[in-house]
Amino acid sequence: MRYLLSLAAGIFLAGASMAVNASEWELGEGNKAFQHLPQYQSYLKNYDDTQMTEYGGSVPHRKHDDFNPLPKGYKHAQPYLKNLWLGYPFSYQYDRARGHVYALEDVLKIDRIDRYSEQAALPSTCYNCKTNTIPQLLEKHGDDFWAMNFHDFRKMHDPKRHTIGCTNCHDPENQMRLTITSVPLTEALERQGKDWRNASRNEMRSLVCAQCHVEYYFETAEHGVAAKPHLPWDKGMDPEDMYRFKADGDPERDGFSGQFRDWVHAVSKTPMIKVQHPEYEMWSDSVHAQAGVSCADCHMPRVTDGPVRISSHHWTSPLKSDQMIRDSCLGCHADRSPEDLRSRTIYNQERVWNQLLIAQEKSVRAHEAVRQAMEYGFADEELLGAAREMVRKGQWFWDYVSAENSAGAHNPVKALDTLASSQQFSDEAVRLAIRSTDYAIAESMDKPIKELVPPIREHSRKLQQSQEHLDSHVWLQYLPLLPEAELIWHGNERLR
Ligand code: HEC
Ligand code: HEC
Ligand code: HEC
Ligand code: HEC
Repeated sequence: MRYLLSLAAGIFLAGASMAVNASEWELGEGNKAFQHLPQYQSYLKNYDDTQMTEYGGSVPHRKHDDFNPLPKGYKHAQPYLKNLWLGYPFSYQYDRARGHVYALEDVLKIDRIDRYSEQAALPSTCYNCKTNTIPQLLEKHGDDFWAMNFHDFRKMHDPKRHTIGCTNCHDPENQMRLTITSVPLTEALERQGKDWRNASRNEMRSLVCAQCHVEYYFETAEHGVAAKPHLPWDKGMDPEDMYRFKADGDPERDGFSGQFRDWVHAVSKTPMIKVQHPEYEMWSDSVHAQAGVSCADCHMPRVTDGPVRISSHHWTSPLKSDQMIRDSCLGCHADRSPEDLRSRTIYNQERVWNQLLIAQEKSVRAHEAVRQAMEYGFADEELLGAAREMVRKGQWFWDYVSAENSAGAHNPVKALDTLASSQQFSDEAVRLAIRSTDYAIAESMDKPIKELVPPIREHSRKLQQSQEHLDSHVWLQYLPLLPEAELIWHGNERLR
């Protein structure tokens, strides 16, 4: 084993020394300088987006769609996503993730970024986790980069060459050592008194992923740097810790005080927080993390590639085949068969998923209770405010598990605990909202959820330009009609 490792390392160093020519890697060359390395061949496997697993996999589809077959929807979907994010761009489109090689292509076409307007509506900061060009862009534009118009950087980005590549995690000028290129991660660690340059090799095998697979929010210009990502870890990584951080933010330090919000929910007028993809946080106190198992152990196992053993650079679900489970898991779980380990993982995911769907429905009911209390007209404002706080918290706890991409596999106990909390907060929101009307809405709230609030199945920027669409669901009536407009951008091509 040790021999193989050093053999592979030798080849890697020989290969790297040929490639280590910093001038070769300038904006525009992206992954090209490294194409002779065997790791590049396994990197190309990330283009395979044809396989799902029970709860994961790589075939892109709409995550709320449980009525169409692949590639539009999937059996395990959350039908209320559009309801829960109403008024926020996530309600226009939210798809299942696929491989790193698609990151740039996918961000260039997502409906969340406004392609009907000269102003993108989301800032350039979105490129931070989709491209290998950020160090160059920051060098050129400094901290102004984050808040610049997303559209201004479309044309210069080639979806193949500039997607997530070797230099996101490797230093081409230092024998391709693992490195952290993410400024927000470096700063989050600094705030904890840590420097990744002193991290162990094993820590680096997870920290390189924490550059992107984490929760974040955008700083504001008044405090901090406009639209710069900030990882809210200062009080810890549990949902409660990050919620507390965002609820009690110190304006001097964090750019906001009190009720930080990403958006105000269109129907319940609640200041909401969107969770991103806290894989690193979910994993951080799992049995595996406690045992020193890194992201790379499971997602980048050592595999044989012709004459050499390399770390697989095909980042995907390890459950796709028995061979992948052997490579990723059986090195430690030698006493178990691939089938056994897969079914144990699905056992955990199934239980998490059932509770996730219940938490999701309770969050919808909580928004509806506040909506009805507002429509009632005489609600006690203090109780209604307390109800909104519970709506906000319930949805944050649900989204912590929902946005995390493993369906609970990374940390089943924490996922279930988080969902139990979500359900309790949302139930409390409903109780407070009903009380705020002195029980006037108790009867109208007493219905099965699908009857009370049907899922919003279709919604997009284009549809929001149609009054007929807005009239098709009670909740959509709370949205403003958008002016009619045609697409300006398709990928990195300007249409008009
Ligand atoms: C998301 C982060 C990430 C990206 C992107 C990435 N690597 Fe790696 N790479 C790793 C990790 C983690 C290791 C394991 C390092 C360790 O164990 O010390 C590794 C190891 C390597 C090694 C050392 C030998 C081996 O196989 O373990 C080489 C060479 C390498 N990568 C080349 C590449 C090339 C070429 C690309 C672009 C096609 C690339 N890497 C992209 C994270 C990354
Ligand atoms: C520079 C940002 C970035 C880094 C670094 C990064 N990822 Fe990702 N990862 C993404 C994005 C963005 C996607 C979704 C791409 C899409 O859907 O277009 C993704 C998708 C994935 C997927 C889903 C792939 C599939 O087949 O469905 C896995 C698994 C994954 N990443 C694991 C990792 C691991 C493990 C590491 C560290 C070794 C890592 N990532 C580092 C940004 C990153
Ligand atoms: C003990 C092994 C293990 C470790 C450690 C681990 N993962 Fe995973 N990961 C899994 C399993 C199992 C799944 C579920 C795959 C499925 O449902 O098909 C998964 C799913 C994912 C997914 C979604 C993949 C998909 O198919 O959509 C991403 C992204 C991901 N992990 C990233 C990470 C990151 C980042 C880390 C480190 C912070 C990490 N994982 C640590 C085993 C692991
Ligand atoms: C580097 C070692 C290592 C690797 C790799 C590893 N595990 Fe584990 N796993 C452990 C340890 C240690 C424990 C905790 C002690 C135990 O239960 O045996 C554990 C526990 C588990 C459990 C028990 C938790 C439960 O709820 O039943 C499951 C399931 C599991 N691992 C699945 C996987 C899967 C799937 C993979 C591959 C994707 C994997 N592990 C890869 C070391 C590893």
